[in-house]
Amino acid sequence: MSRPLVLIGAGEMARIALEYFEHDSDYDVVAFSVERAHLKDTELEGRPVLAYEELASRYAPGDAELFVAIPATGLNRLRTRFYLDAKARGYRFASYVSSRAFVWRNVEIGENSFIFEHNVVQPFVTVGNNCILWSGNHVGHRTVVRDHVFVASHAVISGFCDIGESSFVGVNATFNDGVKVAADNVIGSGALVVRDTEPGKVYVGSPARALPDRSSLDVRF
Ligand SMILES: CC(C)(COP(=O)(O)OP(=O)(O)OC[C@H]1O[C@@H](n2cnc3c(N)ncnc32)[C@H](O)[C@@H]1OP(=O)(O)O)[C@@H](O)C(=O)NCCC(=O)NCCS
Repeated sequence: MSRPLVLIGAGEMARIALEYFEHDSDYDVVAFSVERAHLKDTELEGRPVLAYEELASRYAPGDAELFVAIPATGLNRLRTRFYLDAKARGYRFASYVSSRAFVWRNVEIGENSFIFEHNVVQPFVTVGNNCILWSGNHVGHRTVVRDHVFVASHAVISGFCDIGESSFVGVNATFNDGVKVAADNVIGSGALVVRDTEPGKVYVGSPARALPDRSSLDVRF
């Protein structure tokens, strides 16, 4: 039996999430929801777009699960804001794991997380709540991906790594085994991270170095 799901957001990520949930999960997407100030069209892909502020009048917690379909905007802050707000209102969240991902049997994945095709997630890995792993990453054994993280594509995260809360990992980034990435990092595309990082910084290059005088919160996604 299909389970009703409301997608928070109505942009590209929401349309992508609709495809995956509809065609590769047992969820049935019944509506989209955005904040009233961003409500333009009242219908998208044949489903209603509801004002987030009044969502409970159509789908109360218990009537449907949610997935917050927002990418890395504001260093994951926008997705996190909706996730925490809806959680406080009592909603439960779907996570999606592609049927074409390799996820070992004892991997732990939190709620409101989305794992695209061709990710390899090895034994004893933990992926937190509200994380997005775009396609084709390697997440090595014992690694911990903390809450609210976004990993783009084709990152190689070796074993025993720790990816700090709310961080962004760009395409093709590589992490040596055991590296601890601090919270709120932006790791640029193609970076080679060979040692632990400091919070709130932007790292680029090989070996990766922090951009001087640059806060990760100033990066526009
Ligand atoms: C790191 C990043 C966020 C910085 O973007 P930005 O804030 O616009 O910074 P700028 O383009 O002004 O670059 C600042 C400096 O870092 C360098 N730089 C930026 N990204 C770099 C990268 N990936 N590798 C090496 N150097 C990089 C720039 O050349 C520039 O150097 P300069 O000051 O000597 O000219 C961005 O370049 C990046 O890598 N984004 C990830 C892209 C991605 O993975 N997208 C996936 C889809 S979501």
